[in-house]
Amino acid sequence: MIGVTDMTNITNMADNNIPVALPYILEFEQLGLGMFVHFGLYSMLKQGEWALDLLSLDENEYRSLTDSFNPSSMSDMVLVAKRAGCKYICLTTRHHDGFSLYDTKGLSYYDAPHCLAGRDLVSEFVCECRKAEIVPFFYHTTLDWSRNDFEDDFDSYLEYLKASVRILCTEYGKIGGIWFDGNWSKPDADWKEDELYSMIRNLQPEAMIVNNTGLYARGTVGNEYIDSLTYERGLPTPIDRRGMKKYLAGEMCQTLNNHWGDADDIDFKSVRQLIEEICRCRRIGANMLLNVGPDKDGKIPLMARATMDSIGRWMDSFGEAIYNGRPYISEPDKDDFVLKDVNDENVFYLFKHGLGCGGDVNVVMNGAEVGQTVINGFSLPVESVEWMDNGEELTFEAKGSALTVNCTSYKYGTNLTVRVAKIRTKNI
Ligand code: GLC
Repeated sequence: MIGVTDMTNITNMADNNIPVALPYILEFEQLGLGMFVHFGLYSMLKQGEWALDLLSLDENEYRSLTDSFNPSSMSDMVLVAKRAGCKYICLTTRHHDGFSLYDTKGLSYYDAPHCLAGRDLVSEFVCECRKAEIVPFFYHTTLDWSRNDFEDDFDSYLEYLKASVRILCTEYGKIGGIWFDGNWSKPDADWKEDELYSMIRNLQPEAMIVNNTGLYARGTVGNEYIDSLTYERGLPTPIDRRGMKKYLAGEMCQTLNNHWGDADDIDFKSVRQLIEEICRCRRIGANMLLNVGPDKDGKIPLMARATMDSIGRWMDSFGEAIYNGRPYISEPDKDDFVLKDVNDENVFYLFKHGLGCGGDVNVVMNGAEVGQTVINGFSLPVESVEWMDNGEELTFEAKGSALTVNCTSYKYGTNLTVRVAKIRTKNI
């Protein structure tokens, strides 16, 4: 079980001081779950995406990985994302090593068309996304280890960065957004963010503009073009939008093990933990971006695939609540909470944690945790409550503004970690 002492009802407040959200930001929120993909030359080394820097590798040797980098296709990551119920994928089109998966159109030879692959891997990725009806997002580094001008002539570097991003905005059709990362490396520099972001806004009017505020400034509001707060590997706290100039979305990103790029790392998070974190994000209306690091061929390694497939099993039953559910009732110190459906005013979702399986005391550990859940503040007339995974109807009792739901355990043979019940209210 997870503690939720930091929860308040801020996101549930009717307050005129909260700015109205732009439609593309609302659409982003409805994507709910995304997949982050860290893929690049470093995937050939299986030592994480920071290998060049943190292992002090020889730069020329590292660059010569281009002679053998040749992933067979960009489809596996998209298929895994689709099965997991992810509605968007954010691909590292260029990471801190400076190598681009896209055709830089002569800006640099350090790109996919000039490595053994000899083709534009971003274009292939976007094609696969379109086939699978997944929204493509582009991660792009702002910190670049491969360019001298990053240190010596920052203005010239920023021109290069802008020209690079222009390509991403013009060559691949409509994209979901651009996700920058690296401004934390030069916190005092003038990154000329307005110039970069206004160009994106002109070329891709509905693209989300995100810039990772990093591990030490999670949830910080940045430049006014930015559309979402970021919470890197940290659970998002409720977003207080009162007095904000603009309605901002929120997004947490999380690794499955301890690295973003493929690594020799067997320390995987449990499926339960990841599902609980997805729920914690949605509880306050934030998205979750779950990371995978494909191997050198672009294939998702076994543990990551199994983890994502298990999450997909959960999403098959409860995905509707993740996509459509918006913050409604979350009581401090309680794991269980209720979301309301963004499209149907008579539908709500109760997220129930820690249910066990029913069965014989000699086989079922800790017995069947059957539990009553009391939802304080739910005063609408209820028509029915049912588990979304098997349609079983649950009994309930309404008293004043408290709704008590009698949660049955899983039947022996199933356990889906967090379980979601759909509450239907009567038309009034
Ligand atoms: C950090 C790391 C980077 C990773 C990113 C993902 O900024 O530098 O390797 O891509 O976090 O959020």
